[in-house]
Amino acid sequence: MSLRTTVLMASVLLVLLAACSSPPATPVAAPAQTSAAQQAAAAYDFDMDVFHPVVARHGMVASEQALATRIGLDMLKNGGNAVDAAVAVGFALAVALPNAGNLGGGGFMVVHDAKSGRDVALDFRETAPSDASRTMYLDGQGKVVNGKSLYTHYAVGVPGTVAGLAHALQQWGQLPLAKVIEPAAALAEKGYPVSETLAKVLAREQKTFAPWPASQAIFWKHGAPMQQGELLVQKDLAASLRLIAKEGAKAFYEGAIAQKIAAEMAPHAGAITLADLKNYKAVEREPVRGSYRGYQIVTMPPPSSGGAHLIQILNMMERWPIQDWGVNSANTVHHMTEAMKLAYADRAEYLGDPDFVKVPLKGLTSKRYADRLAAGISADKARPAGDIQPGKPQPYESDQTTHFSVVDAAGNAVAVTYTLNTNFGSGIVASGTGILLNNEMDDFAAKPGVANAYGLVGGDANAVAAGKRPLSSMTPTLVLKDGKVRLVTGSPGGPRIITTVLETVVDMIDFGMNPAEAAATLRFHHQWMPDELRLEKGFSRDTLDLLAAKGHKIAVKPAMGRTQTIQVQGGLLLGASDPRNPDGRTLGY
Ligand code: DON
Repeated sequence: MSLRTTVLMASVLLVLLAACSSPPATPVAAPAQTSAAQQAAAAYDFDMDVFHPVVARHGMVASEQALATRIGLDMLKNGGNAVDAAVAVGFALAVALPNAGNLGGGGFMVVHDAKSGRDVALDFRETAPSDASRTMYLDGQGKVVNGKSLYTHYAVGVPGTVAGLAHALQQWGQLPLAKVIEPAAALAEKGYPVSETLAKVLAREQKTFAPWPASQAIFWKHGAPMQQGELLVQKDLAASLRLIAKEGAKAFYEGAIAQKIAAEMAPHAGAITLADLKNYKAVEREPVRGSYRGYQIVTMPPPSSGGAHLIQILNMMERWPIQDWGVNSANTVHHMTEAMKLAYADRAEYLGDPDFVKVPLKGLTSKRYADRLAAGISADKARPAGDIQPGKPQPYESDQTTHFSVVDAAGNAVAVTYTLNTNFGSGIVASGTGILLNNEMDDFAAKPGVANAYGLVGGDANAVAAGKRPLSSMTPTLVLKDGKVRLVTGSPGGPRIITTVLETVVDMIDFGMNPAEAAATLRFHHQWMPDELRLEKGFSRDTLDLLAAKGHKIAVKPAMGRTQTIQVQGGLLLGASDPRNPDGRTLGY
C-alpha cells in the first residue's frame, strides 16, 4: 500500500471517527464531484477519496509533514492556542522537512485573534546584510555571476524565522517557548526515518550539498544522500533548538548560535556579521485587505507581493460570471490568465520592501484600478506579454517552501508560509549548529530585467540594498465572512504561490468546493514574463486548443503549489493537505 493511500485511508478513518464520536450539528454535504475534480483524478491517478476533507470539531493543523502536524495537534489538545501550535509546527518542520522547514530562513504569518477580531501580519523575512549592495552579484562587466545569489555564503540573507516564531509566541501564544520547542528538539535528537519524498529530494539535490562537508555529515551517509527508511538524526540541530528553548531568540541572534553563523561566514567571504544578526527584527505589519463577492480577504502585505496581487486579481475577476463559465473552462482560464499577467507586470515594476520603496498598495488593490485594468482585457485574444526582455526559462522545478495552517477551538487562526527559498536553501549548514542557511538573496532583482531562479524579473523597487528585505510571493491568507474566519490557506511554489492561493479562494467562493476538492483541482499560472500559460497535465485537449486559439502560449508543466487549507463551515473544521505532496497531513480533534 502506498504512503499516500495510507494517509488517505487514515483521513477517511478520521472523518468516520469524528462523525461517530460526535455527530455534526450541521450535516456536511457530500463533496460535489466537479468535472474539474474528476479531471484531476484522471490526470494524477488520485483516489477519489482525495476529495473528502478531514473533518473535526475543535482544532486542526495542516502541514506538509505528518510528524509536524502531530506535534501541532498535541499542542492544541494540551492547552495551546493556534499560535502555540503554529510555532511548534514551525520548529518541528525545521527538523522534519529540512528542505523547506527552517531556522535559517524566513517567512510570513497572518494571525486572526477571535476575541478581539484583530488580524495581524508578521514579517520575519530575511534581510540583506549590511555590506550588501546593488552590484553584489555582478562581475566587472556588469553581468550577473551565475549561482552567486544561490549557492554561496553570499546568497544568505539574515535569517528571520527564530525571531518571528519567538515574537508570535510572546505576543499571541500562551505556552512557554521551551514547551513548544521541546517536541522538535526531541525529534531531532531521536531521529525519524527518511520518507520517500525526502529521499528523492536529497538525491536530486546532490549538487547542492556537494561542496559542503558539514551539510553532508548530516544528510548523507557513506558518501551518498540518505535513502528512504534511514534514520535522520540531527544532534547539532537538537542542541541549537534546546539552546533557543533555554535562552530565547537571543541565543540565535546574539549568543552561541550567532557566533557560529558569523564564524561560518568569515572564511567564505560571506556577508553576515554579528551586528547584522543582532540588528534583525521581526516586524508586525497591517495585513493587506480586500473583498471578493462578500468575503473579506486578509493577507500578507509587502515585502511579500502575494497579498497585493491576490487582491488585485480578485478585484478584476469580480465582474466575470465564472460560476457560469465553469471551473477551468477555457473562458475562465483565459480571463484569469489575462488578469494574472497584468498583476505580475505591476509586481515587477512596483513591488519591493516598503521600508525602502514606496509601494502603491492602495492603488494596486483598489476596485477602480481593477476596473481600468479589466476594461483592457479582451474576451477573445491573449495579450502578448510585450517586448520587455523576457526572463530565462524556469530552471528550477524542484523548489521548496512550505505552508501550514492552524485553527483552534476559540476560532483563532494562523497561516504561516516560510522558506529557505530553493530546496535546502544555499545547502550550507552553519558548522556546529545543524542549521541550514537560506539563499533568499536570490529573490532580489540582481540586475533589472535579469530573471531570478523563478524566472521573475524586477527593477529598482526590488534592487539589493543593505538592510532591505527581498520581495516575496508568499501568501499566507485568511478569508473571513462577517468578521469570522472561513478559510485559512497558503502554499509554496515561488511565483506560483499567488495563483495557487487565488485558485483555492475562487474554488471555495465561486465553485463551492471543500479544501480537498480545491487542492485536487488542476491549476494554471501566468506570471507575465516569461510569456507562457503554464497548466498542469490533465486539461482537456479541447480547452488547450481553445486557449491556443486565443493566442496563449501553452506549456503543460508540473510543480504548481501545494496548499494546506482549513475551512470553517457549519461549526466544523474541514481540512486538507494537497495531494501533490504525499507527506502532507491534516489532523483535527
Ligand atoms: O519568497 C518567495 O517568494 C520565494 N523565496 C519562495 C520560494 C518557494 O516558494 C519555493 N517553493 N516551492
